[in-house]
Amino acid sequence: MQILDGKKTSEDIKKEIAAEVQQMKANGEKVPHLAAVIVGNNGASLTYVGSKVRSCEQIGFDSTLVALPETITEAELLDKIKELNENEDLDGYIVQLPLPKHIDEEKILLAIDPQKDVDGFHPTNFGRMALEMETFLPATPFGIMELLERYKVETSGKHTVVIGRSHIVGRPMSILMSRKGNPGDSTVTLTHSRTKNLEEYTKNADIIITALGVPEFLKADMVKDGVVIIDVGITRVEDATNSKGYVIKGDVDFDGVSKKSSFITPVPGGVGPMTIAMLLKNTLLARKIRSRK
Ligand code: GUN
Repeated sequence: MQILDGKKTSEDIKKEIAAEVQQMKANGEKVPHLAAVIVGNNGASLTYVGSKVRSCEQIGFDSTLVALPETITEAELLDKIKELNENEDLDGYIVQLPLPKHIDEEKILLAIDPQKDVDGFHPTNFGRMALEMETFLPATPFGIMELLERYKVETSGKHTVVIGRSHIVGRPMSILMSRKGNPGDSTVTLTHSRTKNLEEYTKNADIIITALGVPEFLKADMVKDGVVIIDVGITRVEDATNSKGYVIKGDVDFDGVSKKSSFITPVPGGVGPMTIAMLLKNTLLARKIRSRK
């Protein structure tokens, strides 16, 4: 069993990007600039956004945190989006999800300029991904592809089972794994909450990518020997013995499943850290595309 170490891999990627930024600076070129928009006080979202901004600083990007109150109206947020689209200094930005209930997420995502959409959530970029064109891949799926590539996990002709059809992870993952190329060329089954007899699929999977949000859902008796496990679950589970009052659990019963797997991502330290690294990679790409123009 080999651990797919997202913590180390993400550090490697950040170092590679930092070296490129140094080169850009040495050449007198503009460095990439990422902005992150956060609405309200969701604890997990604040943590993620904080890490994104800190990572920018670490690697030499310019960064801007746009923190907006929970009470902001949809129209006000759309004005802010317009401002970010028109800001010539800004290469890319993200609007952290979820948004408060009174704001239509779809409307906001549609308003983001696809050329600055480094999350890859805009329909234009999602379509470009499906059509195998150059685009910003959504950061979490992109991070998974990068892990599979760097650890040389064989995906061609393999049966990949994705659990969960979210727009952010499951659905794009199913598309990426079925695309031509390496990693990719997989035969993909996309399962979800309405799937009957899920175990029949997981037991026959060479690769399982689970993005369900149910702690330790996937057990050893649901997988076959040699399976590759990608665990995207990040759930805070109350734990009074921990100083934070919670521990982070993945979708996979790691102790049981790791014994049967050939490769497995831990939680934390697997897919999670990759997400930020890939967002930075997308921002670097955005800068390069803009400087071509
Ligand atoms: N919420 C959970 N994951 C993500 C992400 O990758 N990007 C944004 N913008 N919001 C998220």
